[in-house]
Amino acid sequence: MISWRKHYKQTLIAIGLLLSTSASIYGQDGDPKNGEKLFKANCTACHALDKQVIGPPLKGVVDRVKTEGGVGKDWLHKWIKDNKALRASGDKYANEIFEKYNKTEMLVFPNLSEKDIDDILAYTTNPPAPEEKKTPEATAGTEATAASPADKTTTNIVIISLLAIAGLLVWILIKLRQLVKLGQSEDLAGLNETRVKSFSEIYQKYHLIGKGLIAILALLATYGIWNWIMWIGVYKGYKPEQPIYFSHKIHAGENKIDCQLCHSSAKYGKVSEIPSMNVCMNCHRTISEYNGKYMEPGKDKAFYDGEIQKIYAATGWDPQKAQYTGKTQPVEWTRIHNMPDFVYFNHSQHVVAGEQAIINSFNKKNPNNKIDVVCKACHGKIDTMNVVQMANDFTMGWCIECHRTTEVDMNNGYNKEYFKNLHDKLKKQYPKDGGKITVDAIGGLECGKCHY
Ligand code: HEC
Ligand code: HEC
Ligand code: HEC
Ligand code: HEC
Ligand code: HEC
Ligand code: HEC
Repeated sequence: MISWRKHYKQTLIAIGLLLSTSASIYGQDGDPKNGEKLFKANCTACHALDKQVIGPPLKGVVDRVKTEGGVGKDWLHKWIKDNKALRASGDKYANEIFEKYNKTEMLVFPNLSEKDIDDILAYTTNPPAPEEKKTPEATAGTEATAASPADKTTTNIVIISLLAIAGLLVWILIKLRQLVKLGQSEDLAGLNETRVKSFSEIYQKYHLIGKGLIAILALLATYGIWNWIMWIGVYKGYKPEQPIYFSHKIHAGENKIDCQLCHSSAKYGKVSEIPSMNVCMNCHRTISEYNGKYMEPGKDKAFYDGEIQKIYAATGWDPQKAQYTGKTQPVEWTRIHNMPDFVYFNHSQHVVAGEQAIINSFNKKNPNNKIDVVCKACHGKIDTMNVVQMANDFTMGWCIECHRTTEVDMNNGYNKEYFKNLHDKLKKQYPKDGGKITVDAIGGLECGKCHY
C-alpha cells in the first residue's frame, strides 16, 4: 500500500512539475530571477514579499529603508551579509529594527556574494508576476506542493465516483419503473412480451459492460476513500526513496554535522525545511567524492560519488571549471512527515522553548537510551539512519502523552517572559514541593492549541 501511495505521489509531482515548469519560462532579465532563487532558498523561512512573516515584508525594501532609515544599498549589503556585525558596530537603524522586531535574530549570510545580494534586491524591487510562485526550485521545495493537489485529486475522484454511482442508480430506477408500468397494462400483454424480451436481450448484450463499469466505479471509490483515510492515517516506518541517496548516518552520524546547520528554520517557526541545494554546495563545492571509512553494506565508493554528482547536476555546478553553468534541475525530495492540514505543529515551540524540558524528560524515561539533541525525542536516532524513516506514529495520542508527562522548564528565558503571569498563578495552584507543571498545565491539551 505504502509503495503504491509513493508512486501515486510521484506521478502527481511529475504532473505538477510539468504544469508548473511551463509557467517558469519567462521573459525576465536574469538578475531578479536569480534573486528570486536565492530569496526562496535563503530568506522565505522568515520573509515574504507582501506580508510580515518573522521579519518584515521585503517588497520595495530598497526604497523603504531609504525613507525610514535614511540608509542606502550599501547598508542593505552589510545588513544581509552580517546583520550581527552591523548591529554590533552601533549602527542606529540596524539596532532600531532589531528592537522593533522583538530582538528576533536574522541569520547571517557570509556566503552570499555582492552580486547575489544585488540580485535579491533586484527581485524585491521588481518581483515577477505571482504565478512564478509555483515554480519548482532547486531549493527542494519538498512535497508541500504536492500535498494539496494530492488532496484535491483524491476529493475529485471521490466526488466523480459518487456522482457516477448516483447516475447509475437513477438509471436503474427509471428502468424498473418502466418495467412495472409495462407489467401493469394488461392490454399490452402481447407487446409486453416482446418488450420484455427485447429488454432481456439488451441485458444479455450489455450486462457485462454494465457490471464492468460498476466494478470500476466501486474500485475508484474505494481507492479514493482509502487514500483519504490514509491521508489522516499513520505512517510510522514510512521510508520513501529519495532523488539523491542522502545519508543522515554519514552526515549527522559519522561527520557529526549539526541537525540545525541543515534544518536551520526549525528554530524559527512552524516548519523545519529540507535544506536547499545551496546548503549542500557550501560543503560539496569541495567534497566531490566519498572517502569515508563507513560503507553501508551493498554500497561502494562509486555509488556515493555518483550521488554527489547529482548535487552538481541539480545546481549546475561544473566541478572541472569550478563554476556554475546556470543549468539547474530541481530536486524534489519526498516529504516523509506530514501532519493533516487541520493540525498546527510548531517546531520552535519544541526546539527552542521546550528543548531542555524535552531532553530532560526523555532521558529520565529512557535512562539507557539517552539523547543529546532535542530532535531525537520525536524523530528518533536520525543520525544512525541511512534512510530517514518515521520513528513515531505522530498521532494525537502521541502528542498528548508527551504533554501530560513532560515538565515544563519555567525558568528558561522564553517561558519566563511569556508565562510571567501564568507562572505566578500556577505556583499558587500547584503545591510547591513536588508539584509538577507539565505541558497540559500551560494549555497543552486545549484543542485550539493544536487545531486551527
Ligand atoms: C531567521 C529568520 C530570517 C532569515 C532567514 C532572514 N531574515 Fe531578514 N530579517 C529577519 C528579522 C527578524 C528582521 C527584522 C530585524 C531584526 O529583528 O533583526 C529582518 C530584517 C531584514 C531586513 C531589513 C528590513 C527593513 O525593513 O528594514 C532586510 C533587508 C532583510 N531582513 C533581508 C533578508 C534577506 C535578503 C534574507 C535572505 C538572504 C533574509 N533577510 C533572511 C529575519 C530573517
Ligand atoms: C547535511 C545536511 C543535513 C543534516 C546535517 C541533517 N539533515 Fe535531516 N535532512 C536533510 C535532507 C537533504 C533531507 C531530505 C532527504 C531525506 O529525507 O533524507 C532531510 C530529511 C530529514 C527529515 C525528514 C523530513 C521529512 O521529509 O519529513 C528529518 C525528520 C530530519 N531530516 C531530521 C534531522 C535530524 C534530527 C538531524 C540531526 C540528527 C538532521 N536531520 C541532520 C539534510 C540534513
Ligand atoms: C557541513 C558539510 C556538508 C553539507 C552541508 C552537506 N554535506 Fe554531503 N557530505 C559531507 C561529508 C563530510 C561527506 C562524506 C565525505 C567523505 O567522508 O569523504 C558527505 C557525503 C555526501 C554524500 C555521499 C554519502 C551519502 O550520504 O550518500 C552525498 C550523496 C551527499 N553528501 C549529499 C549531500 C546533500 C544532498 C547535501 C545537501 C542537502 C549535503 N550532502 C550537504 C558534508 C556535507
Ligand atoms: C516535539 C516533537 C518534535 C521535535 C522535538 C522535532 N520535531 Fe521535527 N517534526 C515533528 C512533527 C510533528 C513534524 C511534522 C510536521 C508537519 O507535518 O507539519 C516534523 C517534521 C519535521 C521535518 C519535515 C519538514 C516539516 O517541517 O514538516 C523536518 C526536516 C524536521 N521535523 C526536523 C527536525 C529537526 C532538525 C529537529 C531538531 C532541531 C526537530 N525536527 C525536532 C516533531 C518534532
Ligand atoms: C517529546 C514531547 C512532546 C511531543 C511528542 C509533543 N510536544 Fe508539544 N510541547 C512539548 C513541550 C515540552 C511544550 C512546552 C514548551 C514550552 O516550554 O513552552 C510543548 C508545547 C506545545 C504547544 C504550545 C502549548 C501552549 O500552551 O503554549 C503546542 C501547540 C504543542 N506543543 C503542539 C504539539 C503537537 C501538535 C504535537 C504532536 C504532533 C506535540 N506538541 C508533540 C512537548 C512535546
Ligand atoms: C497536543 C496537540 C493536540 C491537542 C491538544 C488536540 N489534538 Fe486533535 N489531533 C492532533 C494531531 C497531531 C492529530 C492528527 C493525528 C493523525 O494524523 O493521526 C489530531 C487529530 C484529531 C482529529 C481527527 C481524528 C484523528 O484521530 O485523526 C480530531 C477529530 C481531533 N484531533 C479532535 C481534537 C479535539 C476535540 C481536541 C480537544 C479535546 C483535540 N483534538 C486536541 C493533535 C492534538
